Amino acid sequence: MEVNPNILVVGSINMDLLVRSPHIPSPGETVSGSRFITSPGGKGANQAVAAARLGAACKMVARVGKDAFGDTLTANLRDEGIDCTDVIGTDDAPTGIAMIIVDAGGENSIVVAGGANRMLAPDDIFPLEDAFSAAEVVVLQLELALPTVRAALDMSRRHGCRIVLDPAPAQRNLPDELFKVDVVSPNVSEAEILTNTRGGEERIDKNVAMELIARGAKAAVLKLGSRGSLIVTSDSHFYTLRAYKVPVEDTTAAGDAFTAALAVAIGRGERLPDAAKFANAAGALACTKIGAQNAMPTADEVKMLMADQQV
Ligand code: RIB
Repeated sequence: MEVNPNILVVGSINMDLLVRSPHIPSPGETVSGSRFITSPGGKGANQAVAAARLGAACKMVARVGKDAFGDTLTANLRDEGIDCTDVIGTDDAPTGIAMIIVDAGGENSIVVAGGANRMLAPDDIFPLEDAFSAAEVVVLQLELALPTVRAALDMSRRHGCRIVLDPAPAQRNLPDELFKVDVVSPNVSEAEILTNTRGGEERIDKNVAMELIARGAKAAVLKLGSRGSLIVTSDSHFYTLRAYKVPVEDTTAAGDAFTAALAVAIGRGERLPDAAKFANAAGALACTKIGAQNAMPTADEVKMLMADQQV
């Protein structure tokens, strides 16, 4: 019988303002877009929703503004069954937003105004002993201030939690301290920024992943999009997994679905290649619908895709 793990997500909550466009505009160019939607997003919140839909008992630690977006987004997370006791309202900044352009091929470009996410402070994290001691896996991203991410890492280590870090948005010159986690799960362009190297084909992707191991990660799982994923571990194991084939509508938050699924499977005690296969399927399904949280697949949908396609 599958055991549903306790997952703690410390991360961002944004309202996504998403527009479809024939292409991503160049500097100075105005493009006539088509469909516009306002929908729940934020890498942390997307991962929390995905983890909950995949069967985890999920708790979110975050900050939102005391405004309409903050209320709507928190209510949405509660409706997904996520514990929002430690989603704190702040007077000092508006709820985070993301401006997202999705092109005809489903690829996106995103600008985030972090707002209240940037106000989540180490002092919000340190009192949460119970939340960390209850968590099997802690999921982190980089849409919060770095001292806050470090505080969450310290608490996770102290409580013996497994840590999955989605190092997005990627930044150069991050301290090695941040990479001392169980799994780091960037996409290729993020891995390139983090390591100051270039990927793009299997041999080079592997070098980029090994660089992340050298910086302290026990495992690096690279999200390769339509090429699947690649795993390198600190005890020298190397795996490549092929992608599931799906009709692509919008790739927004596919990486979030992947990271969340990886965390859920690791929390269930699955081996890393099996966990990454499950994550590939969840990430693929997230590409089949427009938007972020509303595109996160359920456990049944993931199982069905895995049964349909033997990759
Ligand atoms: O990963 C996708 C997410 O990135 C969007 O939902 C947006 O809010 C940004 O955080």
